[in-house]
Amino acid sequence: MHVLILGGTTEARRLAELLEAELPAGSRVTSSLAGRVARPKLPPGEVRVGGFGGAGGLAEWLRTHQVHALIDATHPFAGTITFHAATAAAAAHVPLLMLRRPGWVPGDGDDWHPVGSLAEAADALPGLGRRVFLTTGRMGLAAFADLDELWFLMRSVDAPEPPCPARMETLLDRGPFTLEGERELIRRHRVDVLVTKDSGGAATAPKLAAAREAGIPVVVVSRPPVPEGGAVAGGPEEAVAWLRVLTG
Ligand SMILES: NC(=O)c1ccc[n+]([C@@H]2O[C@H](COP(=O)([O-])OP(=O)(O)OC[C@H]3O[C@@H](n4cnc5c(N)ncnc54)[C@H](OP(=O)(O)O)[C@@H]3O)[C@@H](O)[C@H]2O)c1
Repeated sequence: MHVLILGGTTEARRLAELLEAELPAGSRVTSSLAGRVARPKLPPGEVRVGGFGGAGGLAEWLRTHQVHALIDATHPFAGTITFHAATAAAAAHVPLLMLRRPGWVPGDGDDWHPVGSLAEAADALPGLGRRVFLTTGRMGLAAFADLDELWFLMRSVDAPEPPCPARMETLLDRGPFTLEGERELIRRHRVDVLVTKDSGGAATAPKLAAAREAGIPVVVVSRPPVPEGGAVAGGPEEAVAWLRVLTG
């Protein structure tokens, strides 16, 4: 049994841990990382790093490494690899499961402004605040680079590269984050608007509660589309159950 996990998320690491314990001796679990983060938290089992060279390259990898099951546990905003996974799995006749954590849902007291892209988030910002807590990651900062009137607190795992907003303070940090910590950041930096992707999951959710408490608006970037049909799991335990059924 050889399972390939397309990773780069907390859930992918957790799944690799569960499969290490679950699968019979002699099985292989390989986690694949894109290589975006300089010092990633590594899962147990085998790890490979770097792109496959498109859907065709991934299909070839599945064949030559005799993969029995492919689990796409990438981030909900990693839209390209998810479509490549669907195409490659079909071409190589390998069963595919998409592991997708549920998106966040606004609650009482939330002032959320859903947008379709980072560019739309940038368009919405001047009407909402002046001091922005930007948590959409270091990629795609170019969308905010022309907003000279606004000040940004930009948080990411690794340092960003230009183009970036002119008035930007960088905070290098990696989740999970706490409500106390997020509350303190908003207070200390006098943040008056938060920008986030609808990533879902508990590790980065406290900023939403902190924004609600502070009474500030939140610009929420909606998820990109995913391939139609196919098996979907909401969490690592469900993915293990899918694999159990698959292997009988
Ligand atoms: N996008 C986010 O907000 C975000 C947040 C947290 C973590 N991540 C993680 O960061 C990675 C890259 O995200 P992205 O948004 O740049 O992805 P993407 O736009 O969907 O993928 C771009 C290309 O990167 C390569 N790639 C992506 N994920 C890979 C993986 N797990 N293993 C091997 N190659 C991979 C593929 O290259 P080839 O075509 O050459 O195969 C893919 O075509 C993902 O693994 C994702 O889980 C992303």
